Amino acid sequence: MKPAVLERAKGNIAFSHVSFGYSPDRLLMRDISFEAKPGQKIAVVGSTGAGKTTLLNLLMRFYEVNGGKITVDGVNAAEMTRSGLRKNFGMVLQDTWLFSGTVAENIAYSKPGAAREEIIEAARAAKVDYFIRTMTQGYDTMLDNEAANLSAGQRQLLTIARVFLCNPPIIILDEATSSVDTRTEVEIGKAMKQLMNGRTSFVIAHRLSTIRDADTILFMEHGNIIEQGSHKELLKKNGAYAALYYSQFE
Ligand SMILES: Nc1ncnc2c1ncn2[C@@H]1O[C@H](COP(=O)(O)OP(=O)(O)OP(=O)(O)O)[C@@H](O)[C@H]1O
Ligand SMILES: [Mg+2]
Repeated sequence: MKPAVLERAKGNIAFSHVSFGYSPDRLLMRDISFEAKPGQKIAVVGSTGAGKTTLLNLLMRFYEVNGGKITVDGVNAAEMTRSGLRKNFGMVLQDTWLFSGTVAENIAYSKPGAAREEIIEAARAAKVDYFIRTMTQGYDTMLDNEAANLSAGQRQLLTIARVFLCNPPIIILDEATSSVDTRTEVEIGKAMKQLMNGRTSFVIAHRLSTIRDADTILFMEHGNIIEQGSHKELLKKNGAYAALYYSQFE
C-alpha cells in the first residue's frame, strides 16, 4: 500500500482510544483519547513514570500503538512514513544534542544548506543572536565536543533556533526543570513562547506559567489520562489536578 502523504500539516492531532504497552501483554496505556486543534498548546503533567514521554514518543512513532489510532489532520499516522510524519515536528528536549562544528552548522542541522541570513534570523528569533556575537568567532565559533563551552541554557536556546529555522507546524517541548539560572530561564521562556505561537505544541510542563495558559492540560497517572481540560476547568473539577496545584504552587 502506498503511504499516506501530508506535505505540511495544519497541526490537528487526535488520539482515539489508543492503547500501548512496551510489552504487548502488559499494557501501560489503555484508552487514551484527546484532540489538539491547530495552534493549540497542550500541557502534559503527571508524576515521574506517569507516561508523559511515552505519549509523545507514540505521537512521533518511536513506538507503534497496540490499539486505537493517532491522526494528524485526519490522516492515520501509522499509514504515513516515519520520515514523512516527523518532518512536521520540531523538538526541544532537555538533553540538547549539539555536535562538534561551528555554531552556524549546529543551528543549520535542521535545514541543511540554509543560508547564513536564515540562520541569523532563526538565532534572533530564539534570542541567542546577541550571545553568539559575543563569542570569539561569532557564528563561526567551533563548539568543542559536548559543547562544553556553553551553558545548559545557551545550548537550549541553540536548539530553539534550530526549530525556528526548520519552521515545523507542530512542536514538542520537554521543559527544563532546573540547571539554568533564573535570567536564562526567562529568556528561554520568551523564546519558547514565540516558538509556540501559531504552532500546535505539546509541552511536558513543569513551570506553572506554562501549564496555566495551556488550552488543554492532560493529567497523567499510571499511563492513563485521568483528567483533561483547561486550568480553570480542572480547578473547578477539584480533582487530582486541583490537589496538585494547591499543594505545589500555592
Ligand atoms: N523503553 C522502555 N521500555 C520499557 N518500559 C519503559 C520504557 N520507557 C519507559 N518505560 C516505563 O513506562 C512508564 C512510563 O514512563 P515515561 O518515561 O513515559 O514516564 P514520564 O511520565 O515521562 O516520567 P518522567 O517524569 O520521569 O520523565 C514507566 O513505568 C517506565 O518505567
Ligand atoms: Mg519523561
